[in-house]
Amino acid sequence: MVQARVAVAGVGNNISALVQGVRYYEGRSAGEDPELPGIRRPVIGALRPHDVEFVAAYDVSPAKIGLDVADAILAGKNNYPRLDVTLPATGVCVEPGIREHDPDADVRRVTESLRRSGAEVLVYSLPTGLQWAATAYATAAAAAGVALVNCTPELVSRDQRMLDAFVAAGVPVLGDDLASHFGASIVHRSLLALLRERGITLDQTYQINIGGNEDFRNLREHGESKKASKLNAIAQDGLSLDRVDIIPSGGYVAGLRDQKVAYVSLDGIGWAGTPVNLELRLRVQDSSNAAGVIIDLVRIAVAARRIGLKGFVPAAAALLKSPPDGHGAYSQSAVNTSFEELDAAAESRSAAE
Ligand SMILES: NC(=O)c1ccc[n+]([C@@H]2O[C@H](COP(=O)([O-])OP(=O)(O)OC[C@H]3O[C@@H](n4cnc5c(N)ncnc54)[C@H](O)[C@@H]3O)[C@@H](O)[C@H]2O)c1
Repeated sequence: MVQARVAVAGVGNNISALVQGVRYYEGRSAGEDPELPGIRRPVIGALRPHDVEFVAAYDVSPAKIGLDVADAILAGKNNYPRLDVTLPATGVCVEPGIREHDPDADVRRVTESLRRSGAEVLVYSLPTGLQWAATAYATAAAAAGVALVNCTPELVSRDQRMLDAFVAAGVPVLGDDLASHFGASIVHRSLLALLRERGITLDQTYQINIGGNEDFRNLREHGESKKASKLNAIAQDGLSLDRVDIIPSGGYVAGLRDQKVAYVSLDGIGWAGTPVNLELRLRVQDSSNAAGVIIDLVRIAVAARRIGLKGFVPAAAALLKSPPDGHGAYSQSAVNTSFEELDAAAESRSAAE
């Protein structure tokens, strides 16, 4: 098995959950119990969740630059819990990331570093609201011939020029904004579909999220792109968005640390105009919710790159809040066919080896 070679931009809580989680599944796979809790697809394109090698990392925090990735994920303001796994040094140190004051020189440096590392995919996982940074890292990835997974709501796969750059480079780009594993967006979307399916008319609905990690602190002030992306995530046929309100960060509550609490409320109109109301509270480990999806996006990106697919890959659509052209553009059968293509190509490659 050739491991997926992964570079990361932004060594925050998402990446802590990803790096520690990969070690967790490595341990599970080596043990007698083959069950992989929390994994939707044990194999994608012949890659298992622990078939991942971290080959490069970029950050701008002085608390993280120069540290081995295994130490950097526990440094600075990261507050994802320390899981019960061994974390040996990766041998990869965090390099300075791209800074706003001189992005062109930094983009060239990161492009060179990506090439040298042999990375197959770059996971872009910076704070929300930095469109210049998303564009800069995407430019570096495309120039280095490296696929990109955009975890944030910034425009990359929905920016036609960026999408064209990845197509021209012959590599995949998956974005934008990951849809958490079991988060407020997917639960809210499913409940709205259920209301509709049962013939209950939506009167109004809202979603409020609170948490105690840096993402929540940042979203209090830079939540606009996240709000738009969350609306994309729940948009579906017949839903009038003027009946929906979403507050990405209703508050930073330090004591919650990396836990997130979402409140979802739905008011509907049932038989003969009488009311229906649902109030729901969801509490999750926020960055596990991200890593559980990043691991699939990474494997899709790498498997697709290995067979020469370029641009957006439909298998990723349901794992994102804002895929290019919206969710309506990807039927379930198109998504399934895309996964089958990745699996079949990997099988025939291993049969040929
Ligand atoms: N469930 C989830 O956690 C979830 C779901 C969907 C999307 N996201 C998005 O994922 C992103 C990352 O989330 P997180 O919780 O890991 O955030 P975080 O704040 O913990 O980590 C961000 C990291 O990026 C670094 N950084 C800032 N500027 C940089 C630059 N120019 N170059 C390189 N590194 C830089 C920071 O120092 C920090 O280490 C956010 O945009 C968030 O909205 C998260």
